Amino acid sequence: MQGHDMSNMSTKEEKTPKTSEVNEQLPLATSTQVLSSKEINLTAKEALLQINDKVKFPVYTYNGSVPGAQIRIKQGDRVKIYFKNELPEPTTIHWHGYPVPNSQDGVPGVTMDAIKPGETFTYEFTATVPGTYFYHSHQESAKQVDKGLYGTLIVEPKNEEKVDRDYTLVLDEWMSNPDEGNMDMSGMDHSNMGHGNSSDNQHMDMSSMGHDMSMYDIFTINGKSGSAVKPLKVKKGEKVRLRLINAGYMSHKLHLHGHEFKIVATDGQPLKDPQPIKDELLNIAPGERYDIEFIANNPGEWLLECHGDMEGTDGMKVKIQYEDQTNNTDKANAKEDLPIVDMTKYGKHELGQFTLDQKYDVEYTMDLGTAMGKDGMIFTINGKTYPETAPVNVKKGDLVKVKLVNNSPKDLHPMHLHGHFFQVLSKNGKPITGSPLIKDTLNLKPGEEYVVAFKADNPGNWMFHCHDLHHASAGMVTEVKYK
Ligand code: C2O
Ligand code: CU
Repeated sequence: MQGHDMSNMSTKEEKTPKTSEVNEQLPLATSTQVLSSKEINLTAKEALLQINDKVKFPVYTYNGSVPGAQIRIKQGDRVKIYFKNELPEPTTIHWHGYPVPNSQDGVPGVTMDAIKPGETFTYEFTATVPGTYFYHSHQESAKQVDKGLYGTLIVEPKNEEKVDRDYTLVLDEWMSNPDEGNMDMSGMDHSNMGHGNSSDNQHMDMSSMGHDMSMYDIFTINGKSGSAVKPLKVKKGEKVRLRLINAGYMSHKLHLHGHEFKIVATDGQPLKDPQPIKDELLNIAPGERYDIEFIANNPGEWLLECHGDMEGTDGMKVKIQYEDQTNNTDKANAKEDLPIVDMTKYGKHELGQFTLDQKYDVEYTMDLGTAMGKDGMIFTINGKTYPETAPVNVKKGDLVKVKLVNNSPKDLHPMHLHGHFFQVLSKNGKPITGSPLIKDTLNLKPGEEYVVAFKADNPGNWMFHCHDLHHASAGMVTEVKYK
């Protein structure tokens, strides 16, 4: 076990070669494979990702693609993942959102040692719950995930209601020029422009300074931007499911044009009686997953696109293309002002597992803050940075209530709990009036306050942290610790 607690998030580790040194030998990233056997081979390795017809980045991949291979298994399967690290630095795999046994959670320094270059590790767990998840590195994750080191994990329920099309769409953002300001860009080959270019200075800046989000100027869906994103083919009358996963560090507001849709699951967990919505934006925060479904009943060519005013917004769009009829061609409308779906009121209200006024064994308040530290901005929980933050101490069987408050003046904090799902009970003091909302990642805007509850039913030491991984690496992490 590595001694230093922060190895999973920290900035100081082995150096990787400068992207420009390795770059030209790298193979081009391939398209994403689907692996659906119970024994899976995964290899982390470098590649060059062609994001659009102009820009190529050196990236980290699982099995040569970004997103990495899709692991698609059935509920009840016991799956073994034979993992090999062919990266020039140590890494691990974390199964984001999945309640694996603690020993398989992939947090270096907490649940395992980092897997060194050339080494292997076998992950093994039973697919207990269905839904949409992803996996990613938890070693220096602010950097490695930023370089593309993530893939998707889909667990199909035993008795699945069939849909005609089932697409997985992973959102991310990239920097066309991470060294902006200290590099002459004129005449430079785009292939040398390293997203997450891993010079130590750059990494320091990104993890502990202001990490200005406007540096992320290219947004992607499944590793491609703009017209390079592969259209989603449908036929009239088909039922279409989209599994939306945000693997980046920014929230995105998605608009599905031309169709009503239902949100059928949040973070893999089904909603009760979801009703169709139209022309409302679905806000997806870092680490969150939303499954939506619609009936393809409006032939033509339509967009699912991100709304916003960032430079990259325009690249985050995908065409929905009717195979038979494409006479109607949709126009992008990235800035249209539409309401955002209010998840606290969505679906049918029912009693969930937990209520606000029942008795809890453990209550914890998480005050999320931003402050100026010695070497830049720090992100705090109750005024402390990890590993000084106070853990949530529990024992098996405890009912745990956590109040989260975002006291940062302008930062969003998508807080993610490992190994458990929680039920969201209230937002800004108001109880949830829609479907019971079960999640593992909850986005807090400045000033917002949420109360969540979960049962401590999965012993171990589990991270509870902000999924803007820059914030995590600058302190916003605590642990749920079982006695
Ligand atoms: Cu995807 Cu510790 O997180
Ligand atoms: Cu944060």
